[in-house]
Amino acid sequence: MNHHFHGKNVNYTYAEINLKTLRLNLAAVRKEAGRAGTPQGVKICSVIKSNAYGHGMNETAKALADFGSEYLGTADYRESLILSDFLNKHSKKKAKILCLGILTEEKKFFDEVVTRNIEASIADVGIAKMLNDYAGSVNRKAIVQIQIETGMNRIGFPLSEAYEAVEAISKMKNLKVKGIYSHYATSEIANNAFAKKQLKEFKALVKSLESNVMKFELRHISNTGGILNYKDPYFNMVRPGISLYGYYPDRKKVVKDIGIKPVMTLRSRVNFVNNVPKRQSISYGRLHFTEKPVRIASIPIGYGDGYSRLLTNKSKVLINGRPYKTVGAVCMDWVMADVGNSHDVNVNDEVILFGEDYPAYRLSEITGSIVYEVICNVSSRVQRVYTY
Ligand SMILES: Cc1ncc(COP(=O)(O)O)c(C=O)c1O
Repeated sequence: MNHHFHGKNVNYTYAEINLKTLRLNLAAVRKEAGRAGTPQGVKICSVIKSNAYGHGMNETAKALADFGSEYLGTADYRESLILSDFLNKHSKKKAKILCLGILTEEKKFFDEVVTRNIEASIADVGIAKMLNDYAGSVNRKAIVQIQIETGMNRIGFPLSEAYEAVEAISKMKNLKVKGIYSHYATSEIANNAFAKKQLKEFKALVKSLESNVMKFELRHISNTGGILNYKDPYFNMVRPGISLYGYYPDRKKVVKDIGIKPVMTLRSRVNFVNNVPKRQSISYGRLHFTEKPVRIASIPIGYGDGYSRLLTNKSKVLINGRPYKTVGAVCMDWVMADVGNSHDVNVNDEVILFGEDYPAYRLSEITGSIVYEVICNVSSRVQRVYTY
């Protein structure tokens, strides 16, 4: 295990991203997604939006492409362009980018869509027409996927308008409609009536379009929750995000285990140790007082790195593999841990904020959030160190 980067141009605080774990998670997800009858036919669109859920978009996406992910899902065109540039320079695999965000009237993106490996999601007939006209004007075809709204009420054609919209789009000569997809609102819950309704209605729409209007090479609706709970062989692509990074959408609701492990370990080192007498306060606002003389370990990570201030007085950290309580307000650059009278803890000792040995679920429970937010929040000043 290569956990030591002392003195090697690595900051005290860094996020170790284990690409081997990422590869194993992708394999576990692929196996799970394929189990419903069409094992070889299920493509993976790895969702790498928001800096690959904090893991570093370019490196993570390239690794996923190398490991065989057919598609990479981005949130918007800014991400798509950055990724496309990076892959063109650094990746031999021809993974495609599916932009899950909205294409707007800004024409600069039309050109990118028709000239690069980016597929656009279409949720508006007017925009589809503009893209079609643009593609025609430069003698190219734009590859698009149709986005259908079945329950999030976020983005996509509403079911009531979808059939006619696809009929209209199917006649646009410069658009190649490659796929059709929707997105679940509650798929992390097994056997959920709302998710079942979304699946049923989406499937009915796609089937009737396939009988009467056009065939779709790709049909997809499942995020991680869908892969785990709502497999259906009619669909031939899945869009996992959180599971690739080693977490279930909600540990309490998803009771299944497919063997995935956290990819990111947020690490730091003890930078300073104070001997603090009893009845002294720690950190801003004096939110914690010592009851007896203790040693306080100061760790150079704070909310500026994405270690939430809501963890104040509530979280634990692992120092040399053992859990210690954090005490006092989390600062921008520091958090303090009460190590009692232990002289086992000293400057330079290894700290884990979360990772395989202390999953980020615990922190999301404290902050009242979800694990997605804990990992996404690891900020840009935290160096990502890729290991294999
Ligand atoms: C459209 C879409 N598909 C797939 C995903 C991946 O979801 P998850 O991380 O729950 O697997 C997301 C992320 O929220 C999404 O917005």
